[in-house]
Amino acid sequence: MAFAVTSSAALHSSSLSSSWEQTRAAQFGAFQPLDRPHVPPTSVKLSRKRSAVKPLNAEPKRNDSIVPSAATLFAPADIAAEVVEKVVEEAEDYEKLAKELENASPLEIMDKALEKFGNDIAIAFSGAEDIALIEYASLTGRPFRVFSLDTGRLNPETYKFFDEVEKHYGIRIEYMFPDAAEVQALVRSKGLFSFYEDGHQECCRVRKVKPLRRALKGLRAWITGQRKDQSPGTRSEIPVVQVDPVFEGLDGGAGSLVKWNPVANVKGNDIWNFLRAMNVPVNSLHAKGYISIGCEPCTRPVLPGQHEREGRWWWEDAKAKECGLHKGNIKEGNLNGNVNGTVHANGTANQADLFKTQSVVNLSRAGIENLLKLENRKETWLVVLYAPWCRFCQAMEGSYVDLAEKLAGSGVKVAKFRADGEEKPLAQRELQLGSFPTLLFFPKHSLRPIKYSSEKRDVDSLLAFINALQ
Ligand code: ADX
Ligand code: SF4
Repeated sequence: MAFAVTSSAALHSSSLSSSWEQTRAAQFGAFQPLDRPHVPPTSVKLSRKRSAVKPLNAEPKRNDSIVPSAATLFAPADIAAEVVEKVVEEAEDYEKLAKELENASPLEIMDKALEKFGNDIAIAFSGAEDIALIEYASLTGRPFRVFSLDTGRLNPETYKFFDEVEKHYGIRIEYMFPDAAEVQALVRSKGLFSFYEDGHQECCRVRKVKPLRRALKGLRAWITGQRKDQSPGTRSEIPVVQVDPVFEGLDGGAGSLVKWNPVANVKGNDIWNFLRAMNVPVNSLHAKGYISIGCEPCTRPVLPGQHEREGRWWWEDAKAKECGLHKGNIKEGNLNGNVNGTVHANGTANQADLFKTQSVVNLSRAGIENLLKLENRKETWLVVLYAPWCRFCQAMEGSYVDLAEKLAGSGVKVAKFRADGEEKPLAQRELQLGSFPTLLFFPKHSLRPIKYSSEKRDVDSLLAFINALQ
C-alpha cells in the first residue's frame, strides 16, 4: 500500500540541504504504515514519552507501561527515581491543553498537533468541507499525513475529489478499506441496503469503524474535522484536543491515542469563508445541495434552512447519527435512552411522566387504536409517541406543551401515547414508530396518519408542519 503522504517539501527531499529539511526528510522515511504491525523505532524512548497521555476520567498517575522501560533501559538505579519523576512530569495533561487552546485559531491548533506528533499523527479526511484541515496543515509548512476510509459506497464525486486533492496538494491519501470477507458476509446475508431496514450501525461497523480502528493502531494521534455546530445532539461539547475516549493508538490501551479537533469551535459558515478565501478545491456535491457528506446511500442534499445532519441517515433518529467514528460523543444516557432512572428488564425506567398538562390528551391503547380506525375524523390530531425516559422526548417537553396550549380550542387536538414497553410492538407495526419521539399527524377525513420526519421540534416548526397539512 502506498502510504507516504507529504507536503510538497518532502516530495523533493532528495534535494534538501538544511538540517531542518534533513530532519523532515528523515521523518518521512520512518513512517509507520497505518495498517501494518508496528516495529518499534530505535527512538522508542522519545516516542513513548510523547504518548504518555492522561486517560479521561482518571486520577493523574504514573503511566506504568512507560516508566519501567525508561528507568530500566536508560537510567542507572540511583537516578531512576529522578527519571521517573521527569517522565511523569512530561506526561501531557490534555484537558489542560484543551483549555489553553480553546481560543486558539485552527491554524495554531493544527501547528501544535503536527509539531507534537510529527509522523505519528494523520488527518482523517472524509472528502467534504474538512478539506479545510488539509489546507491548514499545508499552511503550517510542516509535513502531514492524510487518511480516508473508503467504504466502497462513496459518491463518484467524492472519489474524483480525492484525486483532485491529491494533485492539488501533491500528497497521497492513505486509503483504508474494509475487510473483504466481512463486507461479503454482510452483503450476502442481508443485501446491499440492509441499513434502511435495521439501521446503519452494522454496515458502518464493517465499512468504517473497523478500518478506522486499524488505521489508528498505527498512530499516536489523529485529527478530525468535527465541529460543535454539526450536531447539537452529540457534538456540542467536543474539545479542541482530547485523549481519545474510544480508540487505541500504537502503544495500545486507554490513553494511547490523542484526538485533535482543530475546527471544533468554528462555525460552518466560517469554514466556507476560509475555503473561498484560500481558493481551496471542494467536492462538487456541495454545489448540488449537500452539506455533510458520507456514503452515497446514506447522504442526501438538504433544503434551505434544514440542518446539515438531516441529510445523513435521515430515516433514523438524531441520537443514532454518529456512525461510530466519534461514538465517544454519545453519552451513556443517549445510547440506551436512559437518563436518570434505572433501566428495567423491559427497557423502561423509573422516570416521571412527560407532557403533563390538560391541553395534551393522554391516549390509552384503545384510544389510539380508535383514532387509527376512524375513517371520518371530525378533528385533526397530532400525537407524540414517547417514552418518559427518552432524552429526546424530555428535550421536547417544553415545546410540545407550549404547542398544545397554543392550539387549545383551534380544532387541532394534541395528544400523547406512551409507546414503550408492551405497547412498542403495536407502535412499530401500526404507528410507524422508528425511534422516540415519533410525531404523527392524523388529518381530518383521512385514514392514514402522516409522520413528521424533521428533527426540528420547536413550536414554530411543529406549527408549520400542522399548517402545511390542514
Ligand atoms: S460521521 O461520523 O458522521 O461519518 P462526519 O461526516 O460528520 O462523521 O465527519 C466528521 C469527521 O470525521 C470528518 O471531518 C473526518 O475527520 C472524520 N471522517 C468522517 N468520515 C470519514 C471518512 N470516510 N474517512 C476519514 N475520516 C472521516
Ligand atoms: Fe454503510 Fe451507510 Fe454506514 Fe456507509 S454510511 S458504512 S453505506 S451504513
